[in-house]
Amino acid sequence: MADRIPIMADGLPQIFHEALGERFEVLDWDASEGSDAVARSVAIVSYAHPIADGELMDRMPQLKVISNHGVGVDHIDLFAAEERGIPVGNTPGCLDAATADMTMALVMAIGRNLRIGDNFARGPEFLHYDPSILIGQEITGSTLGIIGMGRIGKEVARRAAGFEMTVLYNNRNRDEAAEAELGVRYVTRDELLAESDFVALNCPLTDETTGMIGPAEFETMKTSAFLVNMARGPVVQTDALYTALTTGQIRGAALDVTDPEPLPRDHPLLDVENVIIMPHLGSASNRAREMMMNMSIENLEAGLAGEELPYRIRP
Ligand code: DGY
Repeated sequence: MADRIPIMADGLPQIFHEALGERFEVLDWDASEGSDAVARSVAIVSYAHPIADGELMDRMPQLKVISNHGVGVDHIDLFAAEERGIPVGNTPGCLDAATADMTMALVMAIGRNLRIGDNFARGPEFLHYDPSILIGQEITGSTLGIIGMGRIGKEVARRAAGFEMTVLYNNRNRDEAAEAELGVRYVTRDELLAESDFVALNCPLTDETTGMIGPAEFETMKTSAFLVNMARGPVVQTDALYTALTTGQIRGAALDVTDPEPLPRDHPLLDVENVIIMPHLGSASNRAREMMMNMSIENLEAGLAGEELPYRIRP
């Protein structure tokens, strides 16, 4: 058999190994000095967000391509890759529906007390039906503020229309086509925070969005409002979120992502009742995962063949 192609990857599941086939020698992620994987690998397949910075790229003399499983690439230094002529691929589009579904799932779960209600229904205090407990925010007709009107934000707006929600959005650029198609209304970030019953973060993590939701933003939100973070943990200042949840600045939060991720097991946020925390499941649907894998393999193959990546992301 011809020599197998060495690639460095982090924790690929069996199905991914099978899809790659025998042609590849998948070396476990080891970015340490003197690592065999760093010295020999011709590609990086980034599965669960290992850091790929310029320093690592400089130590990988054979590196031809970086293929990311997922759309968010904040863990990869795109500028460093571009400067070094290393193409980076990601998997846009295929996970928009799954992530929008989860955004709505969290809107409904936090608004209608799913976690607290489930705990209560299993506990000793639930002895009879009581119409006066756990009265949530009706989703239908509520105002949803979406920060980030990209592909995922638009999918969220489509779903929200089914719930007759008023949808406000804020984005780096105003999107008049989205307004015409989806009936969403562009507002400033402060207006969105002040008017929304649910604030959904569907933006990428960039220099501009890092720490975007902090003390002033929680102060601006309604005390009856809920925050849903589907973006990346560092978009929200964790300490400020903890304060907002425990002092009644906002009513609740649902987090698909946290900063840090995961939170240390003794982090005080884990004991807060009015928060739902997911282990980063936004794109974790069967269909999205299959497409993410296939697209990342297409990018890998193209990069190794010296061809343009079908899904290339540039800085
Ligand atoms: C994404 O695609 O960015 C998801 O968070 C999974 O990596």
